[in-house]
Amino acid sequence: MSSRDRDWDGVRLHVVTGKGGTGKTTVAASLALALAAEGGKVLLVEVEGRQGIAPLFGCPPLPYEERGVAVASGGGTVHALAVDAEAALLEYLEMFYGLRRAGEALRRFGAVDFATAIAPGVRDVLLTGKATEAVRRRSGPGRGARRGGRSPLVYDAVVLDAPPTGRVARFLNATAEVAGLARVGPVRNHADQVMEVIRSPETVVHFVTLLEEMPVQECLDGIAEVRGVGLNVGGILVNMVRPPLLEPAVLAAAAEGAVDVGALARGLEAAGLPGHERLARELSGEVVEHARHMRMEAGARDRLAGAGRPCYDVAFLDGGVDLAGLHRLAGSLRDQGAV
Ligand SMILES: Nc1ncnc2c1ncn2[C@@H]1O[C@H](COP(=O)(O)OP(=O)(O)OP(=O)(O)O)[C@@H](O)[C@H]1O
Ligand SMILES: [Mg+2]
Repeated sequence: MSSRDRDWDGVRLHVVTGKGGTGKTTVAASLALALAAEGGKVLLVEVEGRQGIAPLFGCPPLPYEERGVAVASGGGTVHALAVDAEAALLEYLEMFYGLRRAGEALRRFGAVDFATAIAPGVRDVLLTGKATEAVRRRSGPGRGARRGGRSPLVYDAVVLDAPPTGRVARFLNATAEVAGLARVGPVRNHADQVMEVIRSPETVVHFVTLLEEMPVQECLDGIAEVRGVGLNVGGILVNMVRPPLLEPAVLAAAAEGAVDVGALARGLEAAGLPGHERLARELSGEVVEHARHMRMEAGARDRLAGAGRPCYDVAFLDGGVDLAGLHRLAGSLRDQGAV
């Protein structure tokens, strides 16, 4: 074990949300690799039926079954699971009621659609239930307590690639709604157990955002909503961060429209570029644009800071997202002390 302090020590269920397309799946995968870096076993779960994880790790589409997908830098492993609500429902029917064959009939009948029509939260409970079950699962015969101590946990951490910000609070809180419908019995017990994990300090909801107006607004609204239903907000992961190209003083001046075109032309001339004066004039426009963009990003960071949660940078990967890139992002999350 390393002795360094990490922000999310003690957290075992990392829920990753964010505005659509801001990089939830990419960041969730990087976080899973980062968590596995010290030799642990981490489960990465997706629930949207989109098969977003498999291509990231260069795997064929995931079956409804946990599969090893990557080895982290320190030797730990990342496993992945694409949860399917219908398969999860059949699994629960079998587990609680021994209804395997009835389950098959129900599958043909469209059981999940039926259950969802009665209680809209059921689908979400089935999906979150798989993640919370993995958080609590223990190895060994019977997976239960043993005399003289409990058998070890199967996963050190679970990362949930969750629905987008607009739906995440409802998604995570659906269990409370369903628990309200069933007063007693296995469904109620199950819902209570799921909720217990989700509300415990072992679970946090992380927000992925870009430094742009709309994603930042959604991030802040999402944080308020998640807090509003009494869940723990984790960190803010600022994705696709590009380093500034110029010194702060030059950037500040350029944002006001002040660019030393003469100095730029001399630099271009020294670099042996023909037509340096015209080039310098054209380039100065781009310098101003870049500086204004950086200023807008700084404003977005200030707004995010108002949420009072730790922020982490996730670099923009120039060559696109591949496994090497995910490892790089994982290393950077560790360098920033997240995990
Ligand atoms: N740090 C990054 N650097 C470069 N490209 C990135 C980065 N993060 C994400 N992308 C790219 O942006 C696109 C969206 O990323 P991703 O699929 O992870 O987002 P998402 O939030 O999960 O999307 P959805 O809402 O559709 O599930 C993908 O093409 C991905 O490769
Ligand atoms: Mg995704």
